[in-house]
Amino acid sequence: MPGNGGPVVFALANQKGGVGKTTTAINLGAEMATRGVPVLIVDLDPQANSTAGLGLSGQTTTVYDVLINQQPMAGAVIDTVQERLKIVPSGPDLAGAEVELVPAMAREQRLLRAIDRLGGDFAAILVDSPPSLGLLTLNALTAADEVLVPVQCEYLALEGLSQLMTTLEAVRNNLNHHLHLGGLLLTMYDARTNLCQQVADEVRGHYDETFQTVIPRSVRLSEAPSYGLPIGQYDGRSSAAKAYGALADEVIEKFLPSFASRAEAKP
Ligand SMILES: Nc1ncnc2c1ncn2[C@@H]1O[C@H](COP(=O)(O)OP(=O)(O)OP(=O)(O)O)[C@@H](O)[C@H]1O
Ligand SMILES: [Mg+2]
Repeated sequence: MPGNGGPVVFALANQKGGVGKTTTAINLGAEMATRGVPVLIVDLDPQANSTAGLGLSGQTTTVYDVLINQQPMAGAVIDTVQERLKIVPSGPDLAGAEVELVPAMAREQRLLRAIDRLGGDFAAILVDSPPSLGLLTLNALTAADEVLVPVQCEYLALEGLSQLMTTLEAVRNNLNHHLHLGGLLLTMYDARTNLCQQVADEVRGHYDETFQTVIPRSVRLSEAPSYGLPIGQYDGRSSAAKAYGALADEVIEKFLPSFASRAEAKP
């Protein structure tokens, strides 16, 4: 946790592709915002799926300008359809950043420094990262207080997690001493399959940090990004919307307790 009263920075990380990092950035962010938390998503993935999923593709100023040209992050922050949820968008030029950063000074600290200079508008920052453990993800982990790891409920779900944990340990030793494993999140959970239940038990057996909330497999959730909407606005009564709401409650209670009482005060 930051000692200076600054935002809690969460990195969504898993080098495995398609496990729900982006879906979680958008929908956890939106549900936290609904509960009164001012949230900033930083789209640190050249695929720009968080940006597109909120209907905001094609921005001229992006996270590339912040990381590579070291422009102030505040100038790249834009509004979303969700009140209290803002985003620093990504775009295709970010693909070059992974290479352009290699010879750069303090290459792993670019995002951290940009966030440090951002000022106090946000209580939480969610950094969506690409499916690799390259320099972009290292920037996310160096800037983060808490790592959130979405894990898809499927065969070999634990495979790759040990590599991720080794990377977290290396970052902790070399770049960011207070990096903490905030939690693992089971995604695309299908209660009808034994495999899913087994995977969930196995992940919980290995990692005490696993969130109680599981995110169900949901067609509505996969449809929402094409409308540029978080699930709460696309179909607020869906099981997926309720699950991301429950996750937001858990995350707020654990990491942003000053907002918890306000959430409870709601009818
Ligand atoms: N709970 C879910 N139920 C059904 N579909 C889902 C669910 N979560 C995510 N998806 C879909 O699965 C795909 C991958 O999800 P998402 O983009 O969030 O993963 P990711 O980890 O960000 O992927 P990448 O590694 O490529 O960035 C998307 O098409 C998304 O809409
Ligand atoms: Mg993604």
